[in-house]
Amino acid sequence: MNIQCGTDIIEIDRIREAIETMGNRFLDRVYTPKEIAYCESKKTQKYQHYAARFAAKEAVFKAISEDLNDKYAISWKDIEIENDTQGKPHVILHGMDVTGLKSMDISISHCKAYAIAYVVVCKGEKDGI
Ligand SMILES: CC(C)(COP(=O)(O)OP(=O)(O)OC[C@H]1O[C@@H](n2cnc3c(N)ncnc32)[C@H](O)[C@@H]1OP(=O)(O)O)[C@@H](O)C(=O)NCCC(=O)NCCS
Repeated sequence: MNIQCGTDIIEIDRIREAIETMGNRFLDRVYTPKEIAYCESKKTQKYQHYAARFAAKEAVFKAISEDLNDKYAISWKDIEIENDTQGKPHVILHGMDVTGLKSMDISISHCKAYAIAYVVVCKGEKDGI
């Protein structure tokens, strides 16, 4: 079993500016409808949650990019972050062929200025899951 990790940190204001400038064009390019619903439910804190998901997608990409069979074919929305009933985030990959992927775990944190995500991927020797 091999372990691969990925991390990303982002300024919340960068994402706030992108959303304020580009609006739905940015949101629809980067986030799934479920992610948008989750972030919007956070009202005044929503930019922290949008930024966290942006960092999460970057972190996932870093962790899996070596093993992606076509890394240029994926889009932001192919990596989705979903929270379970306890609030713990999970990664859902859509239509992606990642060689040897067995499991993946993610942790997210955010404060007023920054959001950070950390991903750990467990891989087998060959074949995808
Ligand atoms: C859940 C909790 C850890 C979040 O921590 P926080 O400092 O308030 O907020 P952070 O910005 O660091 O983390 C927020 C992220 O935590 C993640 N999170 C929430 N609940 C989680 C859980 N049950 N398990 C793992 N991750 C969780 C989410 O990804 C969330 O971001 P998102 O809503 O954008 O997805 C905190 O609210 C909590 O319940 N703490 C309990 C502390 C405690 O009992 N301490 C004593 C023993 S150590």
